[in-house]
Amino acid sequence: MKKMKGPLFIFLISLLVYSCAEKKSLEEKSITLNQKEKDYIKAIPGEDQELDAELIKKGEVLVAYSDCYDCHKEVNRAKGPAFRDIAKRYPANTIYIEHLARQVIRGSKGSWGYPVMSPHPQVKKEDAEAMVTFILSLRGQ
Ligand code: HEC
Repeated sequence: MKKMKGPLFIFLISLLVYSCAEKKSLEEKSITLNQKEKDYIKAIPGEDQELDAELIKKGEVLVAYSDCYDCHKEVNRAKGPAFRDIAKRYPANTIYIEHLARQVIRGSKGSWGYPVMSPHPQVKKEDAEAMVTFILSLRGQ
């Protein structure tokens, strides 16, 4: 019986070391993932304003009837960034709503590392602002 203790001890120690190492590499992986997410989102600091519920609804309908969902999805990336990721980057306030509405009308490239968003010259400024208000309302969901 005494003879068995040595190998058993070594076995238990190596099991312990192995499981710690495994746990550490998992933690490292999730840190790199978080960093990647941060580098992608590039959250801009700023105040959130309360968004008009009517405008959000109007924007949701306008987005559904436009071509936005050809390239965007709410939660996942597609040809363009996910609406929820856009909402994570930009504070929900007038400055960014106006900025993003201009981007939708003029088209955008280089902000997210995707190819390009085609311009939407037919979309009115106030409609583009409603659409963007809907997108930014997905912040924190
Ligand atoms: C042809 C595909 C396509 C269509 C259609 C499209 N988008 Fe985009 N959108 C993109 C791509 C690609 C990007 C990222 C561009 C970049 O990296 O700057 C983007 C980016 C955006 C952004 C973020 C811009 C920025 O500067 O961060 C908003 C907001 C947006 N789209 C809203 C819309 C809305 C609203 C519609 C519908 C009217 C729409 N998109 C239609 C492809 C598209």
